[in-house]
Amino acid sequence: MKITKICCIGAGYVGGPTMAVIAQKCPHIQVTVVDLNEERIAAWNDKDVNNIPIYEPGLAEVVADARGRNLFFSTDVDKAIAEAQVIFISVNTPTKTYGKGKGMAADLKFIELCARQIARVSKEDKIVVEKSTLPVRTAEAIKSILDHTGNGVQFQILSNPEFLAEGTAVTDLLNPDRILIGGDASDEGQKAIQSLVEVYGNWVSKDKILTTNVWSSELSKLTANAFLAQRISSINAMSELCEKTGADVNEVAKAIGMDSRIGAKFLKASVGFGGSCFQKDILNLVYIAKSYGLNEVADYWEQVIIMNDYQKRRFSNKIVQTLYNTVSGKKITFLGWAFKKDTNDTRESAAIYVADDLINEQAQIAVFDPKVSQKKVLADLNYLETRSSDKNEDSVTSFEDPYQACKGAHAIAILTEWDAFTEYNWQKIYDSMQKPAFLFDGRNILNAQELRAIGFVYQAIGS
Ligand code: NAD
Ligand code: UDX
Repeated sequence: MKITKICCIGAGYVGGPTMAVIAQKCPHIQVTVVDLNEERIAAWNDKDVNNIPIYEPGLAEVVADARGRNLFFSTDVDKAIAEAQVIFISVNTPTKTYGKGKGMAADLKFIELCARQIARVSKEDKIVVEKSTLPVRTAEAIKSILDHTGNGVQFQILSNPEFLAEGTAVTDLLNPDRILIGGDASDEGQKAIQSLVEVYGNWVSKDKILTTNVWSSELSKLTANAFLAQRISSINAMSELCEKTGADVNEVAKAIGMDSRIGAKFLKASVGFGGSCFQKDILNLVYIAKSYGLNEVADYWEQVIIMNDYQKRRFSNKIVQTLYNTVSGKKITFLGWAFKKDTNDTRESAAIYVADDLINEQAQIAVFDPKVSQKKVLADLNYLETRSSDKNEDSVTSFEDPYQACKGAHAIAILTEWDAFTEYNWQKIYDSMQKPAFLFDGRNILNAQELRAIGFVYQAIGS
């Protein structure tokens, strides 16, 4: 089947950029991205393309290119489903916050709602694509809902997980390491796979498009995230040993990364990984393993999360200890709040947890992040429900100017590796701070020697 109409349910960090790139690269395909969130859709449609709801380098340009031509954003979910031959489900699959599997399993209620809506609205055969990250065997549940429409419509379900990383979404989508498409072994299943292969074939070379069975595809996504996160927890574990022994974790990472069997990427020690995916997907993997009685497998992967939580707490403890065991009433400035550079996403950012610990110690937190608003910072802290929102508001202030944020501070903590931080006038910042001026580099981005020469008490991770 030649695809000419695509619908994507979910206009978030995955649905928005992914569909924008498909639309740009496939001018012959009409791509409609739908969402229940009216504010989000309005922002995607904002006349000024710089106001789209997601900040990603290069994204505004791609959207400007295709929007209104063959890329549309809408809240009319029924209409888009009815018209499309292919429906991507790209809704959120957060960790469950209630009931069985609370705190571990993926909450699939949004996925099920989509499946039921597709079943209700569809009058012609369709391909349904799992773009969201899902527990292995979710396609079975989706199929069972779709097969009971009673109106004879046939559905093929494909798994096509997304591997983009935030901050580099556009380049990742334009030049993916691979595209993974899982489908049924039947003739219809193989035809559906081919239809999707052709869509990606418009800009991705065929040798990078991998086709598998559905379960391998679903499980590969969880596995990839678990392996990536495991590397970070592994290097973070070594960072503490480095601090005790005089080794330097950057040097260790370089030394092991040059071994081609290990590879150099994802070995950057940090204050701990954040983002909406790693923790959620590993917890989900742990839950699945436990549900099959595979306790050793579950424990093995859970350790990645335990190590990450420890690394975040270790960072806040170090700040308190270094500041003479009290931060009560002290101004501590956070440079960065996003979970990594080049994104406005703050989900599961280490900054949130470090701030929460320090507020428990009665610190006054000043925040500067080039892409994150005060409203978001407060919402992130309130979400933890550690204390009242009034108390959070009293404890945290956001600044538009980094130099103002640092003025009068007892300590600065770097929580996000924004490039601009390395170009600041650190002498000027030092002059405006309380003395001794402490600097905790949670991302190892600054030059220790230069900062110490200025007079900072500078501490990095793992050295
Ligand atoms: P997101 O929260 O940014 O976006 C999801 C959107 O779906 C929201 O705007 C929400 O309003 C909408 N939605 C939910 N239910 C809906 C419904 N029934 N009808 C219409 N719209 C609905 O989430 P995201 O970061 O884009 O992640 C989506 C999925 O992709 C998740 O499963 C995630 O694990 C996976 N994923 C995310 C990333 C990433 O970097 N963020 C990368 C790869 C995979
Ligand atoms: C991740 C996966 O990389 C991506 O393939 C998947 O589709 C979604 O989840 P994302 O969470 O957007 O992407 O960003 P990523 O670059 O993986 O960073 C995740 C976290 O790990 C960030 O907080 C980052 O700062 C941290 N990190 C990353 C490190 O601390 N050290 C590293 O070496 C790499």
